[in-house]
Amino acid sequence: MIVILLGPPGAGKGTQAQRLQADHGLKQLSTGDMLRAAVKNETRVGRLAKEAMDAGKLVSDDLVVQIIADRIQEDDCATGFLLDGFPRTVAQAEALDVMLSDIGRKLDAVIEVTVPDSILVERVAGRYACAKCGAGYHDRFKKPAQAGVCDQCGSTDFIRRDDDNAETVRTRLDAYKKQTEPLLPYYQEKGVLLQVDGEQSIDAVARTIDEALGV
Ligand code: AP5
Ligand code: MG
Ligand code: ZN
Repeated sequence: MIVILLGPPGAGKGTQAQRLQADHGLKQLSTGDMLRAAVKNETRVGRLAKEAMDAGKLVSDDLVVQIIADRIQEDDCATGFLLDGFPRTVAQAEALDVMLSDIGRKLDAVIEVTVPDSILVERVAGRYACAKCGAGYHDRFKKPAQAGVCDQCGSTDFIRRDDDNAETVRTRLDAYKKQTEPLLPYYQEKGVLLQVDGEQSIDAVARTIDEALGV
């Protein structure tokens, strides 16, 4: 199965992608995570992406399209994958159509996780992740079972993202509205768009997504 998760910053794309991967074996491909790893490792891609990411703006289409085109050909994507944060522009969506037709595969569903703007800032401001395995948490909404210890790997090291500050979140939200929302009619026309209410609890959103996908 090939699924896209669409939604503004803080909607819960990464949270649901991690869970879908654990529950249903759909490989999570997060362009945000890949770009952050590239920045940390100071690769060529990282150097090209850093300035835009720090400002909350989108990095160039060419860069992310190339990353995904290479990534979906790896063995762990053979049975299906979940795109988290890609595509984000109509040009990226068109490039994805070409990539999928080149490898003889088709898109099964696009899930839009809808959340009102007013709650996104709190979602993003309270977010942190395990420094070792990347599992995502929230100060209020998703605490580890034992305070200060990762549920997944037992690490006690956590990190917060550089772009999770109120000012950058507003730029990211603006980029979403201007550049990514045009994807909604694009996928609606193709008959693959499903909408999920992202304002529910994490578990309720998970159940709604599973029902929508029939998994
Ligand atoms: P990216 O990493 O994709 O960031 P984003 O789109 O801004 O989305 P977030 O990761 O902030 O939100 P999320 O929906 O994953 O929320 P999460 O599940 O963590 O991109 C970062 C940057 O990289 C971009 O700004 C751009 O520069 C660049 N980039 C990436 N892809 C690109 C592309 N294709 N083209 C160009 N540039 C690209 O949830 C948030 C918090 O809320 C968590 O703490 C979570 O625990 C909590 N939470 C989740 N669900 C719920 C719930 N239902 N109730 C309560 N709390 C919840
Ligand atoms: Mg994310
Ligand atoms: Zn961990």
